[in-house]
Amino acid sequence: DKGGHKHFMSKEIAEQPSVLTNALGYYLKNGKIELPDPGLDFAAIDRLTMVACGTAYYACLVAKYWFEQVARLPVEIDVASEFRYREPPITKGTAALFVSQSGETADTLAALRYCEGKVDKIISVVNVPESSIARESDLPLPILAGTEIGVASTKAFTCQLTVLAILAIKAAQDRGHMDAKQVAEALEQVKSVPGIMNHALALGERTRAVSRNLAEARDILFLGRGPMYALAHEGALKLKEISYIHAEAYASGELKHGPIALVDEHVPVIVMAPRDALFDKTISNMQEVMARGGKVLLITDEQGAKEAGPGVWDTILMPEVDPFVAPIVYAIPAQLLAYHTAVAKGTDVDQPRNLAKSVTVE
Ligand code: F6R
Repeated sequence: DKGGHKHFMSKEIAEQPSVLTNALGYYLKNGKIELPDPGLDFAAIDRLTMVACGTAYYACLVAKYWFEQVARLPVEIDVASEFRYREPPITKGTAALFVSQSGETADTLAALRYCEGKVDKIISVVNVPESSIARESDLPLPILAGTEIGVASTKAFTCQLTVLAILAIKAAQDRGHMDAKQVAEALEQVKSVPGIMNHALALGERTRAVSRNLAEARDILFLGRGPMYALAHEGALKLKEISYIHAEAYASGELKHGPIALVDEHVPVIVMAPRDALFDKTISNMQEVMARGGKVLLITDEQGAKEAGPGVWDTILMPEVDPFVAPIVYAIPAQLLAYHTAVAKGTDVDQPRNLAKSVTVE
């Protein structure tokens, strides 16, 4: 049942504020973090290894910034197909965390099995509680996104991010990098996400108008810094998988090391820039693109658009959001642009060619 939507993907995008609220209710009780197993202590580990595929991997990439910044916990991340064949040495004091919507992705499951007996704890962040990955973990953490039918992952991604943000805050608390007041403040930010997301979802019409132009492009670049670099990847993946337009993500600062040679008036460059600590640097990279004739679509808030100055091709004005939770909210325009571009191109949004919802072969 598509609930009045044309596609499951559109329904699942719209559902995000409500499923996120469910996840928050499950993990936050009386303003405190409560995990299904109280035994997880991030002070007892020295490092975290996170492994996943595709969109779930980009959730890990965002989380790496969170864990390292707020909890000072070293994090290694890898795509599952590379991790397992690298045969990485694993030392005592490591926890391994696997992220998977289906809980059945063959490479992720094999990576988990590789870690068995080598790590202190196996944690998983999954949508299907009875899945193989959940069953084989010491601590399976549900994301409570509900069934996701669209092949392109949307609500699972933001629910994964929400659970990982809560874990990062818990890690900061366990490791003495946040006191009770700071924890409470950070949790307030996370709790504000569903409400802010509703405002971002109101951008549906705006993103539809922009997408009519994007649908004409052959190549599209996505830029971001810090956790927005991960969102740039997610935006590019979403766009290529359902609209079949070639899209690539770069860390804004990497552009001048090669990819800027691709920039001309035919290549839209989507810049994801909430007003975080790296905003000015991202904007200066954006100006380098414009100086070379690039067409910039800037995604930022009203103040950000003012500070960025004139000359951009188009702007998507986001609600103001705390930098810590911005990656969760900025998933919305990334999803909407991919969705509307695919609809404008007339592709099969829910069943893109060559793809399966659950990849159970390696
Ligand atoms: C992209 C997408 C895929 C999955 C990947 C992992 O929209 O859905 O990249 O994220 O195949 O799947 P799970 O999370 O089920 O392990």
